[in-house]
Amino acid sequence: MLTLGIESSCDETSIAILEDDRKLLSNIISTQIPIHKKFGGVVPEIASRKHIVNIMPVLEEALTKAQVTLSDIDQIAVAYGPGLVGALLVGVSAAKALAFSLDVPLIAVNHLEGHIFANFLSTPHLKPPFLALVVSGGHTALVHMQDYNRFTLVGETRDDAAGEAFDKVARVLGLPYPGGPEIDRLAKDGNPLAIDFPKALLKKDNYEFSFSGLKSAVINYMHNMEQRQKTINRADVAASFQKAVTDILTTKAIAACQKLHLDTLVLAGGVAANSRLEGQLRELTEKEHLKFYYPNRILCTDNAAMIACRGYYQSLVHDFADFNLNAVPYLSLTDK
Ligand code: KG4
Ligand code: ZN
Repeated sequence: MLTLGIESSCDETSIAILEDDRKLLSNIISTQIPIHKKFGGVVPEIASRKHIVNIMPVLEEALTKAQVTLSDIDQIAVAYGPGLVGALLVGVSAAKALAFSLDVPLIAVNHLEGHIFANFLSTPHLKPPFLALVVSGGHTALVHMQDYNRFTLVGETRDDAAGEAFDKVARVLGLPYPGGPEIDRLAKDGNPLAIDFPKALLKKDNYEFSFSGLKSAVINYMHNMEQRQKTINRADVAASFQKAVTDILTTKAIAACQKLHLDTLVLAGGVAANSRLEGQLRELTEKEHLKFYYPNRILCTDNAAMIACRGYYQSLVHDFADFNLNAVPYLSLTDK
């Protein structure tokens, strides 16, 4: 069974070919980061246009790398939300055209669910149930994966997503887009205990997140220091901010595992590439005798392999889409 996956929700055009459940034959990712960097963030109109230019060459490369032809493909899975509407529509239109012309089923995949399924590709023996901490540029959520097609939202962010906070704080620190990896790098030279930034909603049994107060605290700190003409140690700010984020994420993820009696925690989404988050979770899960997995770097950020994998498991329960499929920019984890 060959599933062709398509991802175009933000600034990566990606197509992957997956054999059965977890054998990845190709995963081609064309990133637009260098284009958007000069604007300090993703420009939606440019992203859509670039997806249109990139999608056919990416498709060709994915087929060549997998050593298959279009006639070998059994089904098409596409991310239809959440994301930028114009960007999503490029992938959705391509998927519909391919499914129609090849006369194969079309599968509509929630991009966030895709991020969780990236773990099945990096850890082939992984099976539900487990708890997933989904931390991306647009979302922060704890998800109880009861089975491949049955999951519940345990908690999510009330305002900014973790990745969004990284990107906004990076901008204040004068770092380029995307800010997460830049803060991760800069923080390595800083003292995480230098500044005590606030951590919201840390009460017991609260599995919701809030990062806007933390972001404002960093901005206020910077302004305050500037007004008093004091030298700012940017590495200390980056390290202290990063520690505040990872403390909140790890505390809640471990508490939710214990509350739900789950022995496995997985990380998902772009922020899963953060070295402190990964290190802190590794340490704490070991201490609490929990199993911990996270996707390898290339599968953490946006890619089509995770979309193909999620799509494959949807096909097992005949969860197919029809040609009325549209992009849904604000799709949430519980929508289906
Ligand atoms: O999952 P993703 O590729 O796109 C969305 O679906 O949003 O996540 C992108 C986010 C960006 O906010 C980026 O700054 C963040 O992931 N990110 C990181 C790191 N690498 C990427 N955040 C912190 N540390 C990193 N190493
Ligand atoms: Zn993503």
